[in-house]
Amino acid sequence: MSLHTDSLEHDLLHDARQVGVSPYHESAVLHLNGKAIYTDDIPESQGTLHIALGLSTQAHANILSMDLQPVKAAQGVVAVLTVADVPGENNCGPVLHDDPLLADGVVHYVGQPIFAVIATSHDLARRAARLAKIEYEALPAILTAKEAKAAGASVLPPFNLVRGNPHEKLASAPHRLQGTFECGGQEQFYLEGQISYALPQDDGAVRIYCSTQHPTEMQMLAARALKVSTHKIEVTCRRMGGGFGGKESQSALYACVAAIAAQKLHRPIKLRLDREDDMTITGKRHGVYYEWDIGFDNDGNILGAYVDMALNAGYSADLSGPVATRAVCHFDNAYYLEHVAIHALCARTNTQSNTAFRGFGGPQGALVMEVILDNIGRHLGIDPLLVRQRNFYGHEDRNLTPYGQVVKDNVIDTLVAQLSADCRYHKRRQAVLEFNKRNTILKKGLALTPVKFGISFNFPAFNQAGALVHVYRDGSVLVNHGGTEMGQGLNTKVAQVVAHELGLTLDQVRCTATDTSKVANTSATAASTGSDLNGMAAQDAAAQVRARLTEFWATLQQLQPEDIHFAKGMVYAGSLVTPFAEVVEQAYLQRVQLWSDGFYATPGLHWDGVKMTGNPFYYFSYGAAVAEVVLDTLTGEWSLLAADALHDVGRSLNPALDIGQVEGAFIQGMGWLTLEELWWDKEGRLRTHAPSTYKIPAIRDCPEHFSVKLFDNQNVQPSIHRSKAVGEPPLLLPFCVFNALRDAVASTSNYTRQPTLNAPATPEAILAAVERAQQGS
Ligand code: MTE
Ligand code: MOS
Repeated sequence: MSLHTDSLEHDLLHDARQVGVSPYHESAVLHLNGKAIYTDDIPESQGTLHIALGLSTQAHANILSMDLQPVKAAQGVVAVLTVADVPGENNCGPVLHDDPLLADGVVHYVGQPIFAVIATSHDLARRAARLAKIEYEALPAILTAKEAKAAGASVLPPFNLVRGNPHEKLASAPHRLQGTFECGGQEQFYLEGQISYALPQDDGAVRIYCSTQHPTEMQMLAARALKVSTHKIEVTCRRMGGGFGGKESQSALYACVAAIAAQKLHRPIKLRLDREDDMTITGKRHGVYYEWDIGFDNDGNILGAYVDMALNAGYSADLSGPVATRAVCHFDNAYYLEHVAIHALCARTNTQSNTAFRGFGGPQGALVMEVILDNIGRHLGIDPLLVRQRNFYGHEDRNLTPYGQVVKDNVIDTLVAQLSADCRYHKRRQAVLEFNKRNTILKKGLALTPVKFGISFNFPAFNQAGALVHVYRDGSVLVNHGGTEMGQGLNTKVAQVVAHELGLTLDQVRCTATDTSKVANTSATAASTGSDLNGMAAQDAAAQVRARLTEFWATLQQLQPEDIHFAKGMVYAGSLVTPFAEVVEQAYLQRVQLWSDGFYATPGLHWDGVKMTGNPFYYFSYGAAVAEVVLDTLTGEWSLLAADALHDVGRSLNPALDIGQVEGAFIQGMGWLTLEELWWDKEGRLRTHAPSTYKIPAIRDCPEHFSVKLFDNQNVQPSIHRSKAVGEPPLLLPFCVFNALRDAVASTSNYTRQPTLNAPATPEAILAAVERAQQGS
C-alpha cells in the first residue's frame, strides 16, 4: 500500500468516525415531542378488550372459595379467567417453575394475581375486579429476610464461597470488628408500567407487543402457557419507557395472561397495569440483612473477612439465584481478600418475588464491604481512603478474586489517585473536620468509594447475540438485533457501529423493533452487555456485507480489495469516488447478496455454579466517586453539596450517552440508599405503593456541583471498539453519598462511635442514628 493511500485512509477514517462521537439518542426528538411510540400508543385494533387483575388481599392463605359472579355480571365484562382457563403450564418463573400466572388455591403475598377480568375498557375491568368475593384461610406469613433466615425458609439452597482460612485469620487478627447491617429493596419505577398487547393470528398463533427486556423468554413462556410451539408466538418490542431490570422476567405474567385471553376470545387484548397495581404486584431489588466479621492489622490491611447475606427473595425464586451469585462475586468490590468466607441465602418471604434491578445483586454485595472499610478507618483513626488504597487489588500479585478469576485490567489505583487529586480530597477532609469542630448543629461528611464490576452474564450461555443488517438498493441500511431499547441508547450505539463499519453517516442507518421472528433465541438485554453483545453481532453482519461490496467493486475497478475504502457515504477506489448507493445498486444488478446475519459469543467464559469458581467475567469496569454532604442533626435532613465521579467505559462508543448513563445510575443508586423506602405493614401490605408515599429522587435531590468524567482507558479485551459496558456499574458510585452520611453521623460522637445507620438513610433513620451516636447506645 502506498504512502499516499495510507494517509488517505487515515484521514478519511479519522473524520468519518461514527464511534467515539456523540450523536443524540436515536429517539431523542421523539422522546421530547411525545411522538415516540410505546406499547400503549400502538393504534388499537378493532374490538380490543382490556384486562384487569384480581389481587390477593392476604399475605399467605388458602383460598377457600371464590365468588366471581358479581364480577361477571358487572358492566362491560366479557369474560373472567382463573387458573382453570390456562391451557398449558400455569407458570411464568424464568428459572424454577414456581411462579403461577394465576393463583392455584394458595396465595403467597398481598397483590398476587388470582383472576383476570376482561372488559370493554380498562376502567370497567378495574371496577369489576373489585367485586369478587374471596374467602381465605390465613396461614403464617414471614415478611422479612431476617425472620425467614431464622425460620430456615429459602427459595433455593444457600450459596457458599470460601477461600483460605478466614476463621483462623479472623481469630488471630490484631483487630476485629463484627456487626450487622441492612439495606432495603428498591422499586424499579420505570416510567412506562408493565404492558402487553396480544393479537390473535389466523392459525392459532399470537403476536404480542410487550414492554420487555427479554422478548425470547416472553415468547417461550407464552408458548408454554398456551401449549403451542414457540414458532406460534411472535414478540415485539420497539422500546420500553425504562426497564431497569424490572422487565427482565417480570413482564412475563402480563404477556402470558394477555396471550391466553387473546387465544381464548379471539380478540385483541391489552393488559396494562396501573401504577399502584404495578408496584403492588411486581418484584423489586432484593433488600438484604447482613452479618459480617472483619480482621485487620494496625494499618488497616484486611487479614480475614466473613459475610453472611440474607436476600429477601420474596415468595418465589424468579432471578434470585443469579442475583445472589452476583452479590457473592461482588463482595470483594475492588479489594483483594486472601482469606474470605461469603455466604448468601435467598430467603423466602410472603412478599413480591424480587428480581433484577440495575446491578443485579452486585450493589448489595459491594455495599457492605464499603461500610466495613469506613468502619476500619474510623476504628484505627486512619482516613478510610488510605485503608481502601492499601487493600486494592494488585497488578502482578494480589490479583486473584475469591472466585478464582485473575484481575488483568486493574486501573483502580490510578483512577482513584486521579479522582482524589482532581477533587482535592485530602484538603476537603481537613475542611470538613474544621467545619465540624466549629458547628454543633450542621455537620459535614465526606467519602470516596470505588467500584469494580464484572461484565458478562454469570451463566456463560447467555453471552451470545445475533443481528441482521439489510442494505437496500438506495443505500439505506436497516439493522435488527436481539437487544432491546429501554432508554439506555443501545439502538444508537448499534447504529453507530454499523454506520462506522459501512462508512456511512448515522442518518443512513436505522434500527427496528426487537422481534423474535427476526433474531431468534436472544438473551435478555441485561447485565449491561447490550452493546457489547449486539454491537459485535451487528458489526459482524455489516462486515460481511462490506467484504462482499469490497470484492465486487475491486474486481470491477481492477484494483486490490485493500484499495477500496468506505467513508462518509462514499466508496473510494483509487481516484474514483462513488456514492455508496450507486455501488450498492450496481452490486444488486450483479446479484451480490446485500444483507447478512451476524453472530457473537463472548470468548473465554466458564463458571461452576456449585463450587462458585471460574472465569465468569470478560472484563471489569471501574469507577470511583466522592461525595460531600451537610446534615442537619436536629431534623435528619441533609443535602448533597458536591459529587464528583470518574468512570471507566474503556474507549467510549458515545461519550454523551455514557455520561448520561453514569449520571442516571448515580442518582438512581443514591435514591435506593437514601430516599426510597419500601414499607410493608403487619398484614404484609406494601403501603409505599405509589409516588405519593414512595419517594424517588427528583431534580432538587441532585447535587449543585455534579461532575461526571470518563476515565481515559481502553478495554484490554477486543470488545466492540474497545469500549466497556456502562449500564449498571455506576449504580455503585453513590455508595460515597451513603458513607458521607455515615461519616457526618459519626462526627456527632466526635468519631468515637461507629454509626448505626442502615440503608435507606431517610431523614427519620438518620435522626435516630444521630441520637444513638450522641447517647452512646
Ligand atoms: N438506562 C435507561 N435509560 N433505562 C433503563 O431501563 N436499564 C439499566 C441500564 N441503563 C436502563 C438504563 C440496566 S438494569 C441495564 S442491565 C442496562 O441499562 C441494559 O442495557 P445495556 O446492556 O444496553 O447497557
Ligand atoms: Mo439489568 S438489572 O441487568 O436488567
